Amino acid sequence: MKTKRKAAVKANKTNSSNGSMVDISLKFDEGWSYSPAPESTDHVSIKERYGLFIGGKFVKPALGKYFATINPATEKKISEVANASSADVDKAVKAARKAFGPWSSLPARERGKYVYRISRMMQEKARELAVIESMDGGKAIREARDIDIPLAAAHFFYYAGWADKLDYAFPNKKPTPLGVAGQIIPWNFPLLMAAWKIAPAIAAGNTVVLKSAETTPLTSMKLAEIIQEAGLPDGVVNIITGAGDTGAALVNHPDIDKIAFTGSTGVGKIIQNAIAGTDKKVTLELGGKAANIILDDAPLDQAVEGIINGIYFNQGHVCCAGSRLFVQEDVADTVIRKLKDRMQTLIVGDPLDKNTDIGAINSKEQLATINRYIKIGKNEGADFYQSKCKIPNKGYWCPPTLFLNVSQSHRIAQEEIFGPVLAVQTFRTVDEVIEKANNTPYGLSAGIWTDKGSKIFNITAKLNAGVIWANTYNKFDPTSPFGGYKESGFGREGGLPGLQAYLNLG
Ligand code: NAI
Ligand code: MG
Repeated sequence: MKTKRKAAVKANKTNSSNGSMVDISLKFDEGWSYSPAPESTDHVSIKERYGLFIGGKFVKPALGKYFATINPATEKKISEVANASSADVDKAVKAARKAFGPWSSLPARERGKYVYRISRMMQEKARELAVIESMDGGKAIREARDIDIPLAAAHFFYYAGWADKLDYAFPNKKPTPLGVAGQIIPWNFPLLMAAWKIAPAIAAGNTVVLKSAETTPLTSMKLAEIIQEAGLPDGVVNIITGAGDTGAALVNHPDIDKIAFTGSTGVGKIIQNAIAGTDKKVTLELGGKAANIILDDAPLDQAVEGIINGIYFNQGHVCCAGSRLFVQEDVADTVIRKLKDRMQTLIVGDPLDKNTDIGAINSKEQLATINRYIKIGKNEGADFYQSKCKIPNKGYWCPPTLFLNVSQSHRIAQEEIFGPVLAVQTFRTVDEVIEKANNTPYGLSAGIWTDKGSKIFNITAKLNAGVIWANTYNKFDPTSPFGGYKESGFGREGGLPGLQAYLNLG
C-alpha cells in the first residue's frame, strides 16, 4: 500500500516577502490522502437466502417469493430475503398473539433477563453486525461501528433495566402491556430502529411483528438469529421482510393493538388514515427539516464540525439532519469559508474503509431523489457548491453539497431531501431566526450554537421542535426521548416516554 501524505500548498492570494501572491490553500484531494484501511469481511456470515422469522423459526414465505438486497456501494447482490404476503403477515400476527399471554405473565425480572441477553449478544457480534450494516445500506463503517451498533445494544440494555421496575417508573398507575405491536422501520438506521422499536415493547411485556425496510433487511435477519440463540420464547419477536404492501398488510391486520412507524410523512399519513376508526394505538416518527442556528458569538470551529456532522452524517439520510443552516450575518463569510474547507477534507467512497466519512447513497431511487432536488435548487436560483472529490465508478454516490443564498420559499429549504445537501440562509436578529426556523411543516429537531446560556434558553423555548441540541448535534442516548411535532409525527421513543408508548396506564 502506498502512503501519500504530503500537503500540496498552492497560491491563495497571500503576499510573499517578494510581493508576489502565494497559494496557501490545502488541496486535500491531490496531496493529502490516506492509505486504504478496509475492514475485512471474512468474519461475516450472510446466508444466500433468508426466510421469515415467525414463531421462533425461519420459515418459507407462503407464495415462495423472494427479492434481492444489494450493496449500494458496488451494486452487487448480497443476499435474498422473503417477500411476505398478507398470509405471512397473518401467520406472524397469530404467532405474536399466541406468545402474548405467556410472555406478559412471565415474572418481569425473567423478561428483563432475556432482553439483557439480547443486548449482550449484540455486543459480542458487534463487528459482524457493523460490517453487514455498512454493506447492506452503504453507511461508513466508522459510523456503523461507533454509533449504530453500540446504540442499538444500549437500547436493549436500557429497557432491560426497566422490565421489572414498571410500577416504579409509573407510580400509582397499573402499567399493563398493550398486546401485539406491528412495527415498521426505515432503511437509514436499520438495526438501531429495530432496537428502538423492539426493546421497549418486549421489556413492557408486549409481543411484536417487525417489518424491516426493503433495501436493508440483513441486520434484522441477524437480529432474528440472535433472538433465536438467546432462547427468547417463540413468537415474542417475529421479523418479516417485504415492501410497502407488506407494511400495509401489517397496519391493516385486525389483531394488531399498536402500530409504531418510522419513515416518510407520506406513508405516515396513509397509516393514520388506515387506522382511523379502529382502537389501534399509533406512534409516528416521520420526516424533518431541522434548523441548525449559528449565532455570531458561537465557537465557530466547533460550530463548523457541528454543521458537518448535522448534515453529512450517514449521507444526510437522517430524519433529524440539520439540513437548514442559519448563520448570523456578521460571521457568515467566515463560517462559509471554514465550512467549504472542511467539506473538501471529507472522504467519500468505500463504506468499508475505516477512513471513509461519507459512504454510498442507500439506493438508486434515493440518489435520483437527491439529484432531482439538486436540480430544483439550481433552477430556483440558489448558489450551488459541491466538494471536489473522486467518486467510485460503480455504486450510488453524492459528494457533500451546499446551496447558498437560499430563501424561505425555496423547495430545497422546505422539503426533506434526505441526502448530503445543505440549504444555507443568513439572519440578523434572534427574533428573525426563530421565525425562519419555525417556518416549516416539520418539527423534529434543531441545533443552536452560541456562547451564551441565556440565548440557548430563550431560543430553545421558542423553537417548535421535539429535540434541540445546544453546541452539539446528532447526539443520541437511550434515556433521552426522541420524536416530533407537526408533520414530523407524534409519540416519543427512548426514555420513559418510549416505554409508556407500549403500556396501558390503568
Ligand atoms: P417509506 O416511508 O416509503 O419507507 C419506510 C418504511 O415504510 C419501509 O419499511 C417501507 O416498506 C414501509 N412502507 C411503505 N409504504 C407503506 C405503507 N403504505 N404502509 C406501511 N408501510 C409502508 O420511505 P422511502 O420511500 O424509503 O423514502 C422516501 C422518503 O421518505 C425519503 O426520501 C425521506 O425523505 C423519507 N424518509 C424518512 C425517514 C425518517 O427516518 N423519518 C426514513 C426513511 C425515509
Ligand atoms: Mg441493501
